[in-house]
Amino acid sequence: MWDTLWVDANLATMREGGAPYGEIRRGALAAKDGRIAWIGFAADLPGHAVDLARDVRRCDNAWITPGLVDCHTHLVFGGDRAREFDLRLQGASYEDIARAGGGIVSTVAATCAASKEELIESAARRLAGLTREGVTTVEIKSGYGLDLATEIKMLEAAGELARRGDVRVKRTFLSLHALPPEFKDDRAAYVALVADVMIPAIAAQGLADSVDAFCETIGFTAEEGDYVFSAARANGLAVKLHAEQLSNQHGAALAARHEALSADHLEYLDEAGVVAMAAAGTVAVLLPGAFYFLREKQLPPIAALRGAGVSVAVATDCNPGTSPLTSPLLAMNMACMHFRLTPEEALAGVTREGARALGLGDEIGTLEVGKAADLAIWDVQAPAELSYWLGAPLLRERVFGGRVVSTFDQNTPSSFGAHRFTMSRNGG
Ligand code: NIG
Ligand code: FE
Repeated sequence: MWDTLWVDANLATMREGGAPYGEIRRGALAAKDGRIAWIGFAADLPGHAVDLARDVRRCDNAWITPGLVDCHTHLVFGGDRAREFDLRLQGASYEDIARAGGGIVSTVAATCAASKEELIESAARRLAGLTREGVTTVEIKSGYGLDLATEIKMLEAAGELARRGDVRVKRTFLSLHALPPEFKDDRAAYVALVADVMIPAIAAQGLADSVDAFCETIGFTAEEGDYVFSAARANGLAVKLHAEQLSNQHGAALAARHEALSADHLEYLDEAGVVAMAAAGTVAVLLPGAFYFLREKQLPPIAALRGAGVSVAVATDCNPGTSPLTSPLLAMNMACMHFRLTPEEALAGVTREGARALGLGDEIGTLEVGKAADLAIWDVQAPAELSYWLGAPLLRERVFGGRVVSTFDQNTPSSFGAHRFTMSRNGG
């Protein structure tokens, strides 16, 4: 007997190699003990639905996708940067503001000043934005502390969000994010502190799964990144990198040399970087929210990434400076509009490929027997609509580990979902 069986559903399994979206129309999916126990055509179910599961849920032809994976966020931080937004609209660049002592360093001050509880509360609101659009796994980076105590406070806050939020959290120690002002005359001392003290401490306490860095003219050099990545790997942590966001620092190739899970941003990635990523199996994480919010003009080399067979993920990069975005669906739309991803690539980017970028490809990201029963159930007629609507309430049900954790009532006449989307699904 299964715990839950969803019927009258269309499934976008996102498995590779078959039909677009790995689709199964008129499908059914069963969960038992938190895992997917059966998936296929409803006609092939081994009996009557009511005899097969304790809870049988009818989906009215809604689409079931894997729960979304937001594989790159800075969800935990103090304050905001709305003032800086104003300055940028008046013509200041992101780099100008950072060099003048604003930017990341100003969020560091606000994050140091905030209590852990305050960080949890403000991040929980942003997390709610993600989960109401079907996110079941989110990566959260530190990096607004720059001292060990504040970095630990951020990582603990991220862990607490997992306990409270019906969501899986992967934590990343964003070690080299900005140089603390007190180290301005001794960069090497800060890099050594990160590599020799902070990374071992964070690894020993099990506070992070990966180590990230910001390889950029206003961040850190590839050599400095190389040093902390060696420390990360020696301490059993995976690595990821903010690479080639504002200029080509050859960070992606560095990341690939350390068998990085992902290199992220990549607007200025060159052919050698693409080749290195392909050889290492490093996922390219595209962050169209930051591209949009910085009014960037340089496009990541999508055709080259496709041609080389590099996995491409899409994420919100939710952060106060470059991407105050809490909508994975809008990130998908932006990936299509700005980067010319197909709607199928965009959905793969926030499911299968997002999972790969977190080293979770065997656990989540596609609908397959044995994987975690993390699902998003959508009131759409076709999965391409997930990249198409802007700001529409498409989610009908969110399922985490086999448990229905959010439902949005489609039968309330006043609800946008019932009026617009259910009617349109019936052809009206
Ligand atoms: O992903 N570029 C580095 N890190 C963030 C921005 C951080 C900030 O501006 O607060 C990013 O774009
Ligand atoms: Fe980022």
